[in-house]
Amino acid sequence: MATNDSNQNTELKAMASVSAPDLGVDPQDCMVVEPSDPCTLVILGATGDLTARKLMPALFDLYLEGGLPQPFQIVGCGRTTLSNQDFRSNMEKALSDAGMLDQRRWPVFASAIHYQAIQYDGLQSYLNLADTLNDIDTKFKTGGNRIFYVALPPMLYKPVAQMIGQAGLSTENQNGNGWSRIVIEKPFGTNLKTAQDLDQSLQTHFKEHQIYRIDHYLAKETVQNLLMFRFANSIFEPLWNRRYVDYINITATETLGVEHRAGYYEQSGILRDMFQNHMMQLLAMTAMEPPSRFEADIVRDETVKVFRALRPFPVESLQKFLALGQYAAGTINGKPVQAYREEPGVKAESLTPTFAMMKVFLDNWRWQGVPFYLTSGKRLAKKITEIAIQFKTVPHSMFRRTLGEVIIANRLTMGIYPDEKITLTFQTKNPGAAMCLRTVTMDFAYKQNYTGPILDAYEKVLIDSMLGDQMLFWRQDSIEKSWSFVTPVLNECETCGDRAGLLHFYEAGSNGPAAARNLLEG
Ligand code: BG6
Repeated sequence: MATNDSNQNTELKAMASVSAPDLGVDPQDCMVVEPSDPCTLVILGATGDLTARKLMPALFDLYLEGGLPQPFQIVGCGRTTLSNQDFRSNMEKALSDAGMLDQRRWPVFASAIHYQAIQYDGLQSYLNLADTLNDIDTKFKTGGNRIFYVALPPMLYKPVAQMIGQAGLSTENQNGNGWSRIVIEKPFGTNLKTAQDLDQSLQTHFKEHQIYRIDHYLAKETVQNLLMFRFANSIFEPLWNRRYVDYINITATETLGVEHRAGYYEQSGILRDMFQNHMMQLLAMTAMEPPSRFEADIVRDETVKVFRALRPFPVESLQKFLALGQYAAGTINGKPVQAYREEPGVKAESLTPTFAMMKVFLDNWRWQGVPFYLTSGKRLAKKITEIAIQFKTVPHSMFRRTLGEVIIANRLTMGIYPDEKITLTFQTKNPGAAMCLRTVTMDFAYKQNYTGPILDAYEKVLIDSMLGDQMLFWRQDSIEKSWSFVTPVLNECETCGDRAGLLHFYEAGSNGPAAARNLLEG
């Protein structure tokens, strides 16, 4: 035993003495964990934008990489009447537009695509769909396993779930059905009450283990990497608490404006669009306790504990903890852009916020007193998604008297997008005779030494829903906790006497309103 140990130690030391080895994992091995069951993917809303721009390219790429189950069939459903051939041609064009068409591999993939016209609230349509799915199971041996991907506006989630249920398609392991899953994407309601109503409708026909609620932020590789970084290394975790951390910035800024989505965005605004979901998930990933096992419900239990620990927002002193803004005209990438209020479909006197910075606290042992600044906005200077852990300054500086300088504290930045990297800043001596400090960085680029396939967020979501892995999907208890926190803030912002007074205009292409900086300094 002793000899083995010492051999092992010698090997480990030898490994450590060379530069970081590439452990040579075959990239294909990282693609899928295990083959999923054969299944049929039903896309409701197959003639829409999401199917053409995201879902079909993701499915085709998975097919090219060998990431789809065998057998696997796709049934597109939409209101328009189309033949299988018409739909396949539309999808071929979509792939070609996305620059992803591989003419050689397309015909076999296309042969697994079917189309069926549907009335979203008409039971007969779903009974017909059930017949089609049974035929597909018989012909292609897809085992009665189905995923219903609802690529439709949220107001259709309830009727569609209800019809799927009434047509007997949500029942599992009976009447020729295997497993049955429904996939929906945020928004999950517009406040606590509507989120609960939606869930009640879903749960009438589907059980929690059948419901996959997407947050595309969770499907980002670099967001998942937060858990690996925190819990597969022993050196950061001891520092990850109020003793060493001064504050944490969670940022998701965009240069894009509202685009063609004014109808939705006018009702939603930045707090519903980004805070209740993506920003909350980034907060949970940053702040959660180490889960005991890397299993969906154990990780999601830790997520919900973070939301439970959120200090109720002090709505009576809103402006001390929240800065809201709306973009005015300005310049992005050298081009003039119009104000939010001038965008098509936006009311000329709209009070919808397109920017928010929120200062939140977690009332638990680890994070007591540490502010988390959550910032997100449209039409800002840069597209940046990142989490920055600002450590405390040294408790005492022996250099301060000699050098007369302020010693800048360490900062660990986890870049989610577009800089997919981790950076740690620290102080070193500036080379030369004079004694002075300089701040330097240690960087890790997420894709360094990696040449394998990269899964985009929709590919990840599709694979996980086929595998039945809910880790990266919202669970209803978390949704409710998150809404419980955000809803009082929304109520206060939307019903207070001086709504306009809360909104600070900022120039498009700037770093947001000055009020946000005051929040940071306050
Ligand atoms: C979506 C929001 O959920 O996320 C959009 O509805 C926003 O308004 C988008 O632009 C940002 O996502 P990403 O991945 O570009 O940061």
